[in-house]
Amino acid sequence: MIERQLWHPVARSEALAAGAPLAVALLGEELVLWRDAQGVARAFTDRCPHRGARLSMGRVVATGELECPYHGWRFEGGGRCVAIPALPDFRPPATHRACSHAALEAAGMLWLRLDEGGAAAPALGMLEAAERDPALRKLTVGPYEVATSAPRIVENFLDLSHFGLVHEGWLGDRAHLAQPAYEVSTAADGTLIASGCRAWQPQSNRLSEAGSEVDYRYEVPAPFSAVLRKAPQGQPGYRDVIALLVCPLTPESSRVWFRMALTDFDSSDEEIAAFQDTIFAQDRPVLESQRPRRLPISDAAPVRELHSAADRLSSAYRRMLMARGITFGIC
Ligand code: FES
Ligand code: CO
Repeated sequence: MIERQLWHPVARSEALAAGAPLAVALLGEELVLWRDAQGVARAFTDRCPHRGARLSMGRVVATGELECPYHGWRFEGGGRCVAIPALPDFRPPATHRACSHAALEAAGMLWLRLDEGGAAAPALGMLEAAERDPALRKLTVGPYEVATSAPRIVENFLDLSHFGLVHEGWLGDRAHLAQPAYEVSTAADGTLIASGCRAWQPQSNRLSEAGSEVDYRYEVPAPFSAVLRKAPQGQPGYRDVIALLVCPLTPESSRVWFRMALTDFDSSDEEIAAFQDTIFAQDRPVLESQRPRRLPISDAAPVRELHSAADRLSSAYRRMLMARGITFGIC
């Protein structure tokens, strides 16, 4: 499964404290994250190779190893067992090891890759430069649990034409449902790009005081991540870069965060999170109502969906998934 070679966000960086392992889920697997003595994030399958106990119920000991809660076997960051308390003089062979996975931290999140073979780091698109831009204030919002597939959630994030209905009074209204044409292209690195998008929004962000046309650019740098940049014409100099980060817990359930880089330095974290909570609470019932939960995009799919010219970005996204061999979202 090619999805196993992709980097997936699994938790906020600050959720993983030193000394306390953290259980996470990804692609139907149970995993444990923990920090070694240097504070480096490590990831194992959440199952002790001795008798199958959950390593996330253990602890990180002073020497920076993960200790199983059951018989106290200890594992170093690479997975090798370095001590068996019942046999103090025994040196475990190199084959005594926990199942380890690559982990790293980027954009305020912990990322995991189950199998080798993909890119060396997560593709973040416009978020990468935004993370380094001191003119933008960074925060992470979420997680939100959503009972649908990751591609449904990405498509919803890329969809401008639901604003006036689902987000009426906030990101759109019924008098402005017409969708101006926009451009869709693919960059050399495979990132899907939509430019020249425009929407009329009554309340584009927490600081907007009047309705305004808002210019949008979208990027899909990875199958389950998308980034938008929005610039309201009524707030000169204001722009937001917002990344949707989706963890596919299973093929039909997901965990979602938004990594935000905003011109808004005035609002509190809580106020910005409350705004985003409101918007996502509007999306969620519709998202969870969609059937099938997986995208019906293969020729063999039992359900066909209809497309309009306003959906050219979501159609391009489906083609991108097919081209990258993502079978996960396809029924
Ligand atoms: Fe983990 Fe025995 S089950 S040490
Ligand atoms: Co929406």
